[in-house]
Amino acid sequence: MRVDIVSIFPEYFAPLDVSLMGKARERGILDIHLHQLRDWTHDVHKTVDDTPYGGGPGMVMKPEVWGEALDAVIEDGRAASGPDALPRLIVPTPSGRPFTQEVALEYAGEPWLLFAPARYEGIDSRVVAEYGERLRADEVSIGDYVLAGGEAAVLVMVEAVGRLLPGVLGNACSVADDSFAPGAMANLLEGPVYTKPPVWRGHEVPEVLLSGHHGRIARWRRDEALRRTLARRPELAARFDQDDLDKHDRRVIEEFERSQERLEEGASTAGSGTAFRPGPDHMAD
Ligand code: ADE
Repeated sequence: MRVDIVSIFPEYFAPLDVSLMGKARERGILDIHLHQLRDWTHDVHKTVDDTPYGGGPGMVMKPEVWGEALDAVIEDGRAASGPDALPRLIVPTPSGRPFTQEVALEYAGEPWLLFAPARYEGIDSRVVAEYGERLRADEVSIGDYVLAGGEAAVLVMVEAVGRLLPGVLGNACSVADDSFAPGAMANLLEGPVYTKPPVWRGHEVPEVLLSGHHGRIARWRRDEALRRTLARRPELAARFDQDDLDKHDRRVIEEFERSQERLEEGASTAGSGTAFRPGPDHMAD
């Protein structure tokens, strides 16, 4: 996969030389090209921003410099990949569509991604409008918080996409077992994991994991994933597809719901003196 990143801080992407992404680059699986946006300015100060029309705080990135930069990078890529090649343009912004595992998988199927991370209050909106007419341009958010710029979001996305490329992860199965992976893990968080020793500071590894019984281990892992998702991400659990749940799944969910009801009853009668106070023993196990 070819990845172009245009930024006023190309040095921000040094982490892509390290670990899994560094190896993917060495092996030629990930072909990353970094570009300094200021190289396409024409004034002595290398200005990339200006005041916003309509007033308000902060500065907006100028369309002309982005237009020249993106045209040049696209032309370069086409010279290397063929005249019909077009990148998928990705503009990180907190006002974009959410970046999810599903989007990461979709991007992993693309031959060429072009990232345009902004600083300041963002890029003049006509840039996405212009490129949206020529290629697929996505405004994407990595979460409901505001970063100082899109560079960190690009690092997140390149790593999430890069690890999905064939040959990057040693064990191909681990992608299918990821939290949120389509299939058995859709809308599910991964449960807890353990390694040796079997007892550490008095904490024991759940016995089932030492049993060598693959069927029981798979069932236990699914139970833990269900419970963790119900407890931590109820909005994901609300999206469980009933057709994907077997009898055992339903029992785990019912038990969890009963334990929550008991907790709520306990909370509402707390302080009455004789109230039933649920402890950890009353949580689903
Ligand atoms: N730029 C600033 N905040 C961002 C976010 N949450 N996602 C993507 N790009 C951003």
